[in-house]
Amino acid sequence: MTTTTTSPVLTATGVTMRFGGLTAVQSVDLDVHPGEIVGLIGPNGAGKTTFFNCLTGLYVPTEGSVAYQGTVLPPKPHLVTQAGIARTFQNIRLFANMTVLENVLVGRHTRTREGLWSALLRGPGFKRAEAASKTRAMELLEFTGLADKADHLSRNLPYGEQRKLEIARALASDPGLLLLDEPTAGMNPQETRATEELVFAIRDLGTAVLVIEHDMRFIFNLCDRVAVLVQGQKLVEGTSEVVQSDERVIAAYLGTPFEGAPGAEEAAEVEAAEAGAAPRATGGAAQDEAQRGTTARTEDGQ
Ligand SMILES: Nc1ncnc2c1ncn2[C@@H]1O[C@H](COP(=O)(O)OP(=O)(O)OP(=O)(O)O)[C@@H](O)[C@H]1O
Ligand SMILES: [Mg+2]
Repeated sequence: MTTTTTSPVLTATGVTMRFGGLTAVQSVDLDVHPGEIVGLIGPNGAGKTTFFNCLTGLYVPTEGSVAYQGTVLPPKPHLVTQAGIARTFQNIRLFANMTVLENVLVGRHTRTREGLWSALLRGPGFKRAEAASKTRAMELLEFTGLADKADHLSRNLPYGEQRKLEIARALASDPGLLLLDEPTAGMNPQETRATEELVFAIRDLGTAVLVIEHDMRFIFNLCDRVAVLVQGQKLVEGTSEVVQSDERVIAAYLGTPFEGAPGAEEAAEVEAAEAGAAPRATGGAAQDEAQRGTTARTEDGQ
């Protein structure tokens, strides 16, 4: 369901992130509306995670702004979470020596009002809040299918369940928008299918979702709309059908040059310079990067 008439939960405007001479994200605009699942795809190194980091205040964008429900967010992770945006990480970030339940309780803290003294003195207010948080955390473990593992240490969970736990922890802050960075990486097909169902269920409960994934089947099954980042720029945005049939997207994944492609001019210059230099150099970062792109394409093309 695409509800483009409602005002967006997320409005990213002209988001740019430079690291020294490298522009990782360049003037990206993106809206996410309530009830939507939006996909963010692009080859390795396209700037997808960097864009998420800009949205969540982990990075202060060099230019541009990020608004949640119409209010511009300060670039501070805890304020972004408090406002209503939660995320998971491409490289799982759980507290390895805490239990599954405790990890979800950590995610709950932005929604509990009990302060430090209350926690230290463990007064009745704290105990009530603690009980309510536990109830909510257990609900989320039920929802994500992890309830029977509540007392396990998170480091002992299989990889796929650690990814689910990250989702449960993110949901604990009651977000209006959930950002997922490669939620099915390392999962088997059954786990991926279950994650797809989980994301639909999250959306159905009223949380909009913005998801980065390399698994194209997952993305095109799931998303109302897909945006494609290539070399930091948004190349195409549209429904799964539109994006799948856009030859610029295919070219970007295949690494084939096309007219007007971001970075095409620079690539042409490099190619011309390389053609003039003999013998041709082997190895090097650019070649490694190209190989990484090829690997991703092979996985994605299925
Ligand atoms: N903190 C940083 N400092 C310098 N460069 C960075 C930093 N973070 C990311 N980059 C660079 O920004 C570019 C985009 O990286 P990013 O991780 O956002 O890509 P991605 O689209 O998420 O790729 P992948 O699909 O491999 O996860 C890369 O060239 C990367 O090396
Ligand atoms: Mg990434």
